[in-house]
Amino acid sequence: MQKKLNKIVNRINSYLYRYFSKQKKTELIKPMLYGLLPGGKKVRSKILFDIGSMFKVDKKKTLQVAAAVECIHAYSLIHDDLPCMDNDNLRRGKLTTHKKFGESTAILAGNSLLTIAFQILSDKTLNLDEQKKIKLINLLSESSGHTGIAGGQFLDLSYEKSKKTKKQVIDMQIKKTGKLFSFCCVAPIILAGKIQYLNKFNKIGNEIGLLFQIADDLIDLRGKTSKAGKKTKKDLKMGKATLISLLGTDNTIKYADKLKLEIFKSLNIFGKKGDDFKETINYILNRTK
Ligand code: IPE
Ligand code: IPE
Ligand code: MG
Ligand code: MG
Ligand code: MG
Repeated sequence: MQKKLNKIVNRINSYLYRYFSKQKKTELIKPMLYGLLPGGKKVRSKILFDIGSMFKVDKKKTLQVAAAVECIHAYSLIHDDLPCMDNDNLRRGKLTTHKKFGESTAILAGNSLLTIAFQILSDKTLNLDEQKKIKLINLLSESSGHTGIAGGQFLDLSYEKSKKTKKQVIDMQIKKTGKLFSFCCVAPIILAGKIQYLNKFNKIGNEIGLLFQIADDLIDLRGKTSKAGKKTKKDLKMGKATLISLLGTDNTIKYADKLKLEIFKSLNIFGKKGDDFKETINYILNRTK
C-alpha cells in the first residue's frame, strides 16, 4: 500500500510544483507551497485514482482533479492549526504555517490555496466537457464551504466542551471531513459519465470520511507525535466532541468496523475491480499516521 501511495505522492507533488512554477511570482507562493508540499499522505488523491481506474477515467484528468483537492485539503489544515482554531505548532512533522510565517500570512496563504483549487479545475488544460467541468466545480465548492469543511469546522469548534448526541457528532464529522472524501468518490463518476452511480458513491464517500475521522481521533488518543507528525493527545484536553468521547474506544472501533463491512458489501458488485479501493479503505481505518 505504501508503495502505491508513494507513486501518487510523487505524481501529485510534481504536478503541483510545475503548476506553481508557472504562476506569477508573489510573496504568498512560498507560504502556500510550505503548507501544501511536501508531506501529507495524499489519501484523497489515492481514492480518486482508485475509483478512476474502476471506471477507466483518463489518469491525466484524475491528476488535475486530485491536485485541486490537495490544495483545498492543505488550506483546511493551515486554518485548522491557527490559534483561533486548534492552535497547533506542528503539522506534517514541521512547524505549522502560521508558526513559520505569522498568522495573517497563514490565513492569506490558506485563502489562496482554496481559490487556486478552482483555478486548477477551471484551467483550459483540463480537457473536459463543459457541463462536467461545471458540475465538478459546483460540487467542490459545496464540499468546501458552509455545507462542507467550513461548516463542519464551525460545528467542531462550537461543540468543544459540550455534550452532543451521536447524530450531531456524526453530522459534524461528515461535514468537516466527509464532504471532501465524498467529492473524491463522486468526481470519477462524473468524469466517466456514469451518473447512475452518483448517489451510491456520494454515500460511500461520506462514510469513508467518517472512518477517516475516527481513525484520526484514535491516532490523537493513542498515537505518538513523532509518528503522526502533529501533536497527539489534544482532543481530550480541548474537550473535542468525538465518537470516542461519546461511545468509548471499543464501541467506536466496533462502529467503524461495522461501517467498513457495509461499505465493502456495497462494493461487491464491482468484483476484483474494487480491490484497490477496498485496500485504501482498510488503510484509512488501520493507519497509524
Ligand atoms: C488530517 O488529514 C485532517 C483530517 C481531516 C482528519 P490527513 O491525515 O489526510 O492529513 P495529511 O494530508 O496526511 O497531512
Ligand atoms: C480537522 O480535524 C479536519 C479538517 C477539515 C481540517 P482535526 O482538527 O482533528 O485534524 P488534525 O488532527 O488537526 O489533523
Ligand atoms: Mg480541528
Ligand atoms: Mg486540528
Ligand atoms: Mg485530529
